[in-house]
Amino acid sequence: MSFDSQSWLARARALIGDAHVLSSDRGDDLSAYTRDWRNKFEGPALAVLRPANTEEVQAIVRLAAATGVAIVPQGGNTGLCGASVPGSTGPRAVVLQLGRLNRILDIDVENNTATVEAGCVLQTLQQQAAAVGRLFPLSLGAEGSCQIGGNIATNAGGVQVLRYGNTRDLVLGLEVVLPDGERLDLLRGLRKDNTGYDLKQLFIGAEGTLGIITAATVKLFAAPDARVVAFAGVASVAQAVQLLGAMRQRLGERFTAFELISGEAIALVRHYFPDTPAPLQGDWPWYVLMEAADGGDDAVLREAMQTALMACMEDGQLEDVALAGNVAQGQALWMLRENITHAQQMDGSNIKHDVSLPISRIPAFVAAMLPQLAQAFPGARPIVYGHLGDGNLHFNVSAPAAIEPGSWQLQTDAVNQVIHDAVAALHGSISAEHGIGQLKRHELPLYKSAIELDVMRRVKQALDPVGLMNPGKVL
Ligand code: FAD
Ligand code: MLT
Ligand code: ZN
Repeated sequence: MSFDSQSWLARARALIGDAHVLSSDRGDDLSAYTRDWRNKFEGPALAVLRPANTEEVQAIVRLAAATGVAIVPQGGNTGLCGASVPGSTGPRAVVLQLGRLNRILDIDVENNTATVEAGCVLQTLQQQAAAVGRLFPLSLGAEGSCQIGGNIATNAGGVQVLRYGNTRDLVLGLEVVLPDGERLDLLRGLRKDNTGYDLKQLFIGAEGTLGIITAATVKLFAAPDARVVAFAGVASVAQAVQLLGAMRQRLGERFTAFELISGEAIALVRHYFPDTPAPLQGDWPWYVLMEAADGGDDAVLREAMQTALMACMEDGQLEDVALAGNVAQGQALWMLRENITHAQQMDGSNIKHDVSLPISRIPAFVAAMLPQLAQAFPGARPIVYGHLGDGNLHFNVSAPAAIEPGSWQLQTDAVNQVIHDAVAALHGSISAEHGIGQLKRHELPLYKSAIELDVMRRVKQALDPVGLMNPGKVL
């Protein structure tokens, strides 16, 4: 039977309301939903659907399953691997935008949990938790627009993993609409539960390929009263790794963030954000942004941070350091870090990498990779930074200055091969936090074992046998 898009749209409109089914045939602009944050991936959508609750999600999924229409779940569309938009080929697809499921259903202060709908913006959850003296620690540059459902579907990392873990470590319960429209209720706020397979883990980091997350129960923590930010200059990545070990030893659980930033990354941010002050008097090849947080007195934490940093300086683990004097200065230092992604995007074509390695191997990896890239791709500009405390580097490579616009992307596979082969040789991962999506789908078989891929396919087949849930992503 031929597919009648008008009648499909009419059925969808009857299910969730006329205003919440956007389609280009009636003049709606879908580009904000069909093009990814980096303007790298774009694919056609029959419609963008904005359901209001789990029942509406179920109704749409059932309609799609019955009519062979694929579903691309979408949160804030800030993902960096092309997983949140339709592929340019593949089955007829709709984007299922979760933004209207944005309620905070419950904050249980005694249980230290929040139960939220998937479309709740991360920053809103952080703020609501703070209003009752609690911390939701997931924190990343896109927090003003990414949604908790997207964070869970990507198992987002961010800048507090060192102390609180990845998103996976923060999720206690989930509600999921399965590819056949069934509601799987795993929405529990338990820290211990050994009643069989931990099914929620399947959906965390699955990039929307196994089902639609509609709500989650997440962990909260005591909100720290004191927070201290420091910025250090170091001579090498090896010195930064020594500094990391020493600071963790000295500050223990109070040490919450350790971000490595290359001199080139700082220069790029200061170029595109000219109001950004220099963090230190001198220039260093590498910098480290550190944060400590604690429930106690600000002055006490400051003193502890200062003492630890001075001891590190005496031991030759850093070259220069500045401590933020107040909250505003701390935020300014964080902006230097958070604006790297934006500065690199403004700077033009770049090939992104998001690798992880055992921390001990990172200095040798960087030391080998920089000359290797310079030799293989003359003029290419590595912009290296990342969550060194988690062994996660964004080893991005910007186009050589004098290159025709567009032609640098043609080098993607060649650049990837150099970097990812080296990562694999050191038993690292080609995606520490952004995921596989469309971007690295063709690389996955090169770096994952056949048996691992086979088990992944069997899971996919069991839950989504027809393959309508975010097709063309991951597998
Ligand atoms: P989207 O981009 O909309 O979707 C991402 C994936 O999740 C897609 O596969 C989509 O299909 C799926 N999905 C979305 N919602 C659902 C749902 N409810 N159910 C099932 N599947 C769903 N990432 C990090 O890990 N660490 C960082 O530090 C970091 N920093 C960033 C900084 C900037 C400036 C930007 C632009 C991005 C950054 N990211 C980072 C990447 C991105 O923000 C995260 O991957 C984020 O978790 C995506 O959330 P989102 O709501 O935008 O999801
Ligand atoms: C970050 O740590 O800033 C990100 O994961 C985003 C990026 O790599 O651009
Ligand atoms: Zn990151």
